[in-house]
Amino acid sequence: MKVIEEIDRLRKILDKHCSKNETIGYVPTMGYFHEGHLSLIDIAREKAEVVVVSIYVNPTQFGPDEDLEKYPRDMNRDAKLARERGVDYIFHPDNDEMYSENFSTYVQNIELSDKLCGATRDNHFRGVTTIVSKMFNIINPDFAVFGQKDYQQAIIIRRMVDDLNFNIDIVLGDIIREEDGLATSSRNVYLSEEEREQAPILYQALKEAKKKVENGETSASYIKEFIHDKINETEKAEIEYVAIVNNKNLEEVEEVSEGVFAAVAVWFGETRLIDNIILK
Ligand code: PAJ
Repeated sequence: MKVIEEIDRLRKILDKHCSKNETIGYVPTMGYFHEGHLSLIDIAREKAEVVVVSIYVNPTQFGPDEDLEKYPRDMNRDAKLARERGVDYIFHPDNDEMYSENFSTYVQNIELSDKLCGATRDNHFRGVTTIVSKMFNIINPDFAVFGQKDYQQAIIIRRMVDDLNFNIDIVLGDIIREEDGLATSSRNVYLSEEEREQAPILYQALKEAKKKVENGETSASYIKEFIHDKINETEKAEIEYVAIVNNKNLEEVEEVSEGVFAAVAVWFGETRLIDNIILK
């Protein structure tokens, strides 16, 4: 496994693989690996001859009051884990490599970026679509793997790929969870002991909501209220949103039908957690 910091060097290496017609699978990340990231790497490893993982904490997707500075980083540990999972190349650029002084071009989906998490995180998805476009142009993979954990992100990336004719398949990986149901996340390390104990309520609420749908419930407003009330049973949870939306345009629905999912964003103290479940 090689760790590469320069765009030109990575391009030269990947060109060689390309000319041998080898399939390139790509997993974009911000590092500080947990089983969620590693499960996406496994998917790429299974499908591709060459696996590229980027580790880059992208400043343009963080708001001015967000955790860019304190976002957890551990490059040595990540490199070790990636090597163990059979990654071929880690792309680990610095900010100067990714954003030149004159940088002024952004990629933005105008329909989906202000919904759900975008409603409170100004320009977050603009930063994501911009960095992912740049990575796609640098790496030129056959496919890229994203996690359902950030379902809105994956939906926006899929739309971007369609809209802008990127010739790249987007593969979706399942949400990986801790034993008690909390979705693994780099931000879980911020939780206090008490918050960590209460955080599994998100998945419990979502799972019970799905059960209700399986038992015949179709009213989105009922399901939404159920999730709300269940999460509010815990003392530390501050709900930012509970939404029942379709996976095409992220619009709220009245009836739970095919392609509808429930998404939540909840604060535990200073830490914002998100989770979702496909209801049907
Ligand atoms: P990051 O938060 O590091 O996540 C990288 C990938 O891991 C994303 O596709 C995310 O959905 C996936 N992931 C995170 N937690 C997961 C879990 N519990 N189960 C399965 N997959 C999980 O998402 C980003 O980075 C950035 O926005 C990025 C796309 C790299 C652009 O900067």
